[in-house]
Amino acid sequence: MKRLGILTSGGDCAGLNAAIRAITLRAIQQYAMEVYGIYQGTHGLMRRPVSAIKLDLSFCTGDLLRHGGTVLGTTNKGDPFAYPMLDGTVKNLSEEVIEGYRLLELDALIGIGGDGSQDILRRLAQQGGLNLVTIPKTIDDDLSHTEHSIGFMTAVDVATEALDRLQPTAASHDRVMILEVMGRDAGHIALASGIAGGADVILIPEIPYLMNTVAQKIISLREEGRNFALVVVSEAVGTESGEKAKIMDLHGKSRYGGISHYLADRLTELTGAETRFTVLGHVQRGGQPIFQDRVLASVFGVHAVDLIAQEKFDRMVTWQNRQVGDVPIKQAIEGYQAVDIHGALVKTARGLGICFGDENF
Ligand code: F6P
Repeated sequence: MKRLGILTSGGDCAGLNAAIRAITLRAIQQYAMEVYGIYQGTHGLMRRPVSAIKLDLSFCTGDLLRHGGTVLGTTNKGDPFAYPMLDGTVKNLSEEVIEGYRLLELDALIGIGGDGSQDILRRLAQQGGLNLVTIPKTIDDDLSHTEHSIGFMTAVDVATEALDRLQPTAASHDRVMILEVMGRDAGHIALASGIAGGADVILIPEIPYLMNTVAQKIISLREEGRNFALVVVSEAVGTESGEKAKIMDLHGKSRYGGISHYLADRLTELTGAETRFTVLGHVQRGGQPIFQDRVLASVFGVHAVDLIAQEKFDRMVTWQNRQVGDVPIKQAIEGYQAVDIHGALVKTARGLGICFGDENF
């Protein structure tokens, strides 16, 4: 293995640069490989000339490790198998991506992405005989076979800090504060930050809630003498009738967002409490990675390069039981890691008296 490509794909998160750095350091120092960073995921391989930069050791010094985002850029649009063309048609550009890999004369590729990106990269690898290893990243932490993906822990840290900031203003104004966090269909960010940030109510997609139960919790806090309450809600939680709050962009693509507005209105109606909501949004993805994400990204980067050197392809690196490992990519993306509603964190939250809005409260 002489020439290695790296790309980041899907939504960004904190810790991607730390992974790029670790891959580059390991590949050059241990195996004397040449390393190329490909810009904007598979888009870089579609462009002519291929959009890439040779990475050397000087690239890894200084502040790269500390920076949020990805210096290579990324995209969560433009699946090469169904690429939206300017004229409104959709085209299969997978062969162009594969040709880009050949034009760069790559021997192997490390793709850092979530389940959707890994699925696309794997299909490309199979079609074109590309030597692929993947690294899991997603603030949603929903990839199976790894306890954590890069970006999750920083996102939880940001959400926890938001609760730290909301609590004093909630207490000053006798208010109920609702914090809406990301996570797509998994409630990991809401659950972890809710525990860490002292939430009274945590609403996650994995546990159906009753509005009256949530309202009752707020009322009982007030009866106990508490003048504020903190509610954390995951963006994919629906209304009482199960409708999801979504935002439609100009291209007709929808994403989650806005359920906290609905909850604020309903809670005010039911409790009389003055209620405010904060939609945390992409703040959770940006900023400096906390140490856990830097360490995880470094561990993943080194292991991914070692797999390449051993010619073990079609594998995703993992973190389980304090050990780095790897599983077939197919296995990783076929699974899904939702919140375990009987797991330690849900039990802990219940043990602390946190309400999930369900009948077990
Ligand atoms: O998957 C990561 C994520 O941040 C989700 O938590 C969120 O729903 C979505 O991406 C937002 O996507 P976009 O960056 O397209 O707004």
